[in-house]
Amino acid sequence: MINETDMAALRMQLADRLRRRKPGGNKAVAAGEEPRPRSVLVCGAGGCASGGGRQLYAALRDELLRRGLAGQVELVPTGCLGLCAEGPVLAVAPEGVVYSRVGVADVWEIVEDHLLAGKPVERLLAGYIAPEEGLYSAETRRITARWGIINPERLEEAVAAGSYRALAAAVLRKESVELVRLADEFLPGFGPADGVVATLNEPAPGVYLRSTLAESDPHSLLEGLALAAIAVNAPLAVLHVPAEYTLAAERLRLALRAAVEAGFLGDGLFGGEISLRVELCVGEEDFLQKDDSALLEALGGRRAAPAPADPIDPIDPAASGCGVLGGLRVRIASPESLVRLAFAASSRLAAAEEPSAEEETVLLALSGRLLRPRLCEASAAMTLRELIEQMGGGLPEGDELQAVQFGGPTGGLLRPDQLEVPLNAAGLRAWREGMGAPVLTAIGSDENLLDALRSVYRYLGRHSCGQCSVCRIGLARVEERLGAAGEEPDAEAVRQLAALGKQLREASRCGFGRAAARPLLTYLAHFCRVEVE
Ligand code: SF4
Ligand code: FES
Repeated sequence: MINETDMAALRMQLADRLRRRKPGGNKAVAAGEEPRPRSVLVCGAGGCASGGGRQLYAALRDELLRRGLAGQVELVPTGCLGLCAEGPVLAVAPEGVVYSRVGVADVWEIVEDHLLAGKPVERLLAGYIAPEEGLYSAETRRITARWGIINPERLEEAVAAGSYRALAAAVLRKESVELVRLADEFLPGFGPADGVVATLNEPAPGVYLRSTLAESDPHSLLEGLALAAIAVNAPLAVLHVPAEYTLAAERLRLALRAAVEAGFLGDGLFGGEISLRVELCVGEEDFLQKDDSALLEALGGRRAAPAPADPIDPIDPAASGCGVLGGLRVRIASPESLVRLAFAASSRLAAAEEPSAEEETVLLALSGRLLRPRLCEASAAMTLRELIEQMGGGLPEGDELQAVQFGGPTGGLLRPDQLEVPLNAAGLRAWREGMGAPVLTAIGSDENLLDALRSVYRYLGRHSCGQCSVCRIGLARVEERLGAAGEEPDAEAVRQLAALGKQLREASRCGFGRAAARPLLTYLAHFCRVEVE
């Protein structure tokens, strides 16, 4: 077991190593200094992996083996590096050099020129990770600060970057009052419980926000989970991982084992009296399980069906719920809010810093007709327009923005003149619709908006659990009416759609059905000028 003094020594030692591995710090190794470890971090997230990333990884592995470099260069499949439209992407640490559109044919040059001769391959260079170098300069990287920088499979790198400091402070220095205050701030509604539950089920299909959090920085997620459990005196924490996210599951298994072996999690945390059992539960992915009650049903081995209460806060999807699992009272938190808790606790418990107000950020996915669809962490003060232009790179030449859907499949549709809305809760509340899921989809001028809406309702219809007829039949009717509307709904179709939307919003049994009215009602209000009271 590790005590606080050992922990401090470990941190100093590892912090020193990390300092020498800092991105952008590509200085020659001083004479007599221990050579720095080098890693090639290959994006193993969905977009890159399916676009040739797996073959790239295998080719790099073979080339390193062939040249006898396997012991000197670590090859690591990492999480998303944010340049999803330019994959496959890889980063070389410690330099923090990012290469994009890398193919198997480029492997020889990267090894020869960069890894052996120390000369970055200009033609593949996307930029540098360090903020001053510009690749992520429009972002405000807080909870993503370690993505692509640390090797997520090494506990010592996570510790050197600050992981488990807050947990050690909470356990060893018994900072319980401050921890409870932090938990109140980051996990609204949390209170005494027997367990804490979180799921990597994505807030919207095809987004990979949560799996990327786990793949790129699994220890921050585990620390956040542990801090949340300790804040409510819960001896158990459960992390649900959909089986599809094999890399995330593997990373978490590895991270959990390492943290338990180090004495950071499990029995007698940091050699103290507090114990915390952390369980990974591999299950199915289901959009409906973003509803807390449906998630608990699924974890309990039953069909994922939501309870009548509306557990979804349409404004803040990170808001926490509660429920019962296996007879235990549990609190449910989103992985994003747990990682935020870990980072905030790290500065406030371990370093006694107060974060300033402008540090509020949103982790979100940009998709659709953008030059740079990507995952990014943006300042909450950014407007939707700034997101599209600065983060997403705008639309390709010759294309114009027709509409934006913000909030995933249950998000509202906006016209281009409605985008001066900041991402923070106040901005979204002022706009009335709130944020269903942190996903922005840009729809171009040559796309058929009604077709886009039809595919949204096909998707929603497939995901209704069918318990109540308002939602089950209502969604089918919406799909039918949209299907029959041709190029544009006429006055009668608009009237019928408005009535269906109103009914869905007001009479659905759970939050899913109510939120499912939003794309339709915003389409009618913003594109057909029909307001439904
Ligand atoms: S509103 Fe839809 S998802 Fe919710 S309980 Fe009813 S049928 Fe199921
Ligand atoms: S999926 Fe590889 S950079 Fe995002």
